[in-house]
Amino acid sequence: MTLQKEPTILVIFGGMGDLTWRKLAPALYNLLLGKRLPEHFAVMGLDMKNESPDVFRLRLRDGANSFCECGGVDEKTWNEFAPNLSYVSGDFANPATYTALNTQLEDHEKKWGSPANRIFYLATPPGIMETIVQGMGAAGLAKDKHRARIVVEKPFGHDLASAVALNGVLTTVFDETQIYRIDHYLGKETVQNILAFRFANALFEPTWDRRYIDHVQITVAEQVGVEHRGAYYEHAGALRDMIQNHLMQILTLIAMEPMVSFDANEIRNKKVDVLRAIRSISNEHVQEIAVRGQYGPGSMEDQRVPAYRSEPDVAQDSPMETFAALKLFVDNWRWQDVPFYLRTGKRLPTRASKVAIQFRPVPHQSFPTTAALAWQPNYLIIDIQPQEGILLRFQAKQPGSSLHLTPVDMHFSYQETFKSKSPEAYETLLADVISGDATLFMRADQVEASWEVLMPILTIWENSIQADFPNYQSGSWGPKAAEALIAKDGRSWLQPTPKDFQVGK
Ligand code: BG6
Repeated sequence: MTLQKEPTILVIFGGMGDLTWRKLAPALYNLLLGKRLPEHFAVMGLDMKNESPDVFRLRLRDGANSFCECGGVDEKTWNEFAPNLSYVSGDFANPATYTALNTQLEDHEKKWGSPANRIFYLATPPGIMETIVQGMGAAGLAKDKHRARIVVEKPFGHDLASAVALNGVLTTVFDETQIYRIDHYLGKETVQNILAFRFANALFEPTWDRRYIDHVQITVAEQVGVEHRGAYYEHAGALRDMIQNHLMQILTLIAMEPMVSFDANEIRNKKVDVLRAIRSISNEHVQEIAVRGQYGPGSMEDQRVPAYRSEPDVAQDSPMETFAALKLFVDNWRWQDVPFYLRTGKRLPTRASKVAIQFRPVPHQSFPTTAALAWQPNYLIIDIQPQEGILLRFQAKQPGSSLHLTPVDMHFSYQETFKSKSPEAYETLLADVISGDATLFMRADQVEASWEVLMPILTIWENSIQADFPNYQSGSWGPKAAEALIAKDGRSWLQPTPKDFQVGK
C-alpha cells in the first residue's frame, strides 16, 4: 500500500553522517520494499563534505545493506530507486547553500509537474541546528505551512534554558504543527502497544491506579558501552541521553489518563499532564531520590571491557554518569504516593527494556502460612525489547496433595503471535512524517516539562563531584546505592534476565 499520494522530497541535513547511514538508509529501504513511499519521492542529501551524488548513493546503499533486517539490498530494486537520490554540498552557515537547495527542490517539482511536500530532516550535531533553521527561514523554505516539515533529532537542548531557546528558534521559523521531534522509543511497536494494552482492554484499567498498584519500575538496561561516542557523551550522561526523553516518555504512557480520541494533540495533552504532575524535586531531596553511577572496567560475556574513563574522547577524571536511577511520584488522584522507579545504564549485564508493574498484596491472606511460602505479588511486565511481549505473573496451586502456592506466568510474545518482525522504529517514524501524522513525536511543551522535572538533579550533579566514580563494574547491575534507593522502601529491582524476570538478585 502506498502511504500517501502527494509527491515528497526528503532533504537530509547531515546526509553523509552516521545517523543517515545507520538508521535512515535502512528505514527508507524498508519503506521502499513495503511500497510505502509516494510514487514521486526523492531524497536529497546535504552535507559540508564536497562529495559527488554517486558517493552519497553508495553510502545510502551501504547503510541499507548493512543495517536493514531484510537480508541485504536487492540490486534491481535499488537501481530503480537510486536515480531519485541526489546530493548538495555546502556550508550550513552560508545563505547560498539554501538558495542552491531551493533551486534543486524547484527543479524536482517542475519535473513532476506538481508542488511537493518538503521534509527537512536535521540529522546533524545539535550545535548547528539553530543555524540551519535560521538559514531555512531566511530562504523562505519554511513558508508553506502544509508542505514544509522539519524533523529534529534529540538532544532537544542541554537543559531547560537551551531547550526553550531551541524551541524558540524553531517556532519563530516553523509552526509547531510543522515540527517533528523524534524520540525513537515512541516508534517502537512495544511502546506504542502500551496505549493499545491500556485503553483497548477493559480488564486492566480498573486496577490501574494507587488502590491496586504498589509501584512501577522502568528499566532500560544496555550492554553496550559509550565506545566511539565519548565526545558526545561527555556532554550528555545517562540523565540527558536516556531519562529526559526515552524513560520519561514511557512513564507518561504508563501514567496518562485515557485519551478521548486517537488524535495527536489529545494524546500529547494527556502526556504533558503527567509530566506536569510529577512532584518537583527540591535540592535537599536530590540525594535521596537520585543515584548516579559510572562504569569501571569489567567483563561482558567473557570479554574484558574498559572503564568509561578509558573510552576514546573521555577525560581520565570524567565526572559523567553512565548510570542513573530515580524515584519519582506523580501527584494526582490516580497515582498519589505510588513510586515510579526509573533506571538506565550502560555496560549492564544484559540488554533489556522493561516496565514492571507490581500490584499490591491481597487484602487478606486466607491460606495457611506454609502454603504461601513462595507467594509473590502479581506483576505485569511489559517487555519492550529485546524479547518483545507481556508477562502476567500470578499465584497458582502447585499440583499435589498438599496446598502450596507458587507464582506462574502467562506470557504473550510478539514473535510467536505475529510471526513477522516488527518494523524498526525509524521506519515507522519516517512513514508518519511522510503522511503528516505527529502523534508519535514530541511537542515543545513535553520536552520542556521533562527538562523541568530533571533540572534540580542536573544542577546538583553538575556542581558536586561523585568521589567514588567509577562506582560499578562493567557487567554488574550498577552502583550499590541504586539497590539502596529502592531497598529503603522495602522493595527490590526486578532483575531482567535474557529469558525472564527474577525477583531480587
Ligand atoms: C539513544 C541514545 O537515544 O538510544 C543511546 O543516545 C542509546 O546512548 C540508544 O544507546 C538506545 O536505543 P535502543 O533502541 O538501542 O534501546
